[in-house]
Amino acid sequence: MNKQAIDALLQKINDSATSEGNPRTKEIVNRIVQDLFYTIEDLDVQPAEFWTALNYLGDAGKSGELGLLAAGLGFEHFLDLRLDEAEAKAGIEGGTPRTIEGPLYVAGAPLSDGHARLDDGTDPGQTLVMRGRVLGEDGKPLAHALVEVWHANHLGNYSYFDQSQPAFNLRRSIRTDAEGRYSFRSVVPVGYSVPPQGKTQQLLDQLGRHGHRPAHIHFFVSSPGFRKLTTQINIDGDPYLWDDFAFATRDGLVPAVKQAEGAEGKPYGVDGNFALIDFDFTLFKERENLPGAEIERLRAAA
Ligand code: DHB
Ligand code: FE
Repeated sequence: MNKQAIDALLQKINDSATSEGNPRTKEIVNRIVQDLFYTIEDLDVQPAEFWTALNYLGDAGKSGELGLLAAGLGFEHFLDLRLDEAEAKAGIEGGTPRTIEGPLYVAGAPLSDGHARLDDGTDPGQTLVMRGRVLGEDGKPLAHALVEVWHANHLGNYSYFDQSQPAFNLRRSIRTDAEGRYSFRSVVPVGYSVPPQGKTQQLLDQLGRHGHRPAHIHFFVSSPGFRKLTTQINIDGDPYLWDDFAFATRDGLVPAVKQAEGAEGKPYGVDGNFALIDFDFTLFKERENLPGAEIERLRAAA
């Protein structure tokens, strides 16, 4: 079909509306349908290919993998870069970079003041202490800021989604102390891979791509009057550090992992050798006329 004929068909579809509906939904859906009609025409997509794609999305939804797909196809990183751009236009630059939330957060983790232990002592990974402060953009510490942290175990699996782990294993919420300090004890995570037999991996195979992420730790950092920060740190030295299937590694999010021992572990109840990461988070004041940094999204809760 030529473009004129396609556009006439699109017009007919658009004109079939008999009530206003939701103007924003209409605008977005009509545009996506237009882009897909053009794609089908330009690439001569065959009916069997179309139905394969549609059923693929249905199956990915049924198995709960659409969030993985959004990360793997780069959508989540793209949305981050667009938020960065909006902030830069408003004069917000520097500070702790944001990076993707991913699909594996669970609301409702236990809350601690100042310090938390995330693991239950059964994970065989190396003991990790991470500590630092939450600061405002002026460098002043933020007391009673909330640091929500979650990460995978030594097999790359997340509690809740991996039912073999105790509730909220490797997930906590920590309030900073009067000097803006937080700390936690846990175990060094290893990298995550999408389920090898799942729908995401099936598509990645077709794209000639892998489904691995470097070892990482997720954070939401928030304080009243400040823009919520969604970010991760990566464990330096991971073979996938700069080859993340979700494109989430960013400069500024790869802190040094120091090897520590002895008295340094005392305040955290740690004996012997452990890995130590020092990392400060910087938050920006909320500003008007900026897209919100608190992203509404369906999330698991326990
Ligand atoms: C995915 C998994 C993660 O642990 C993460 O942080 C981001 C994305 C995923 O499976 O898509
Ligand atoms: Fe993750």
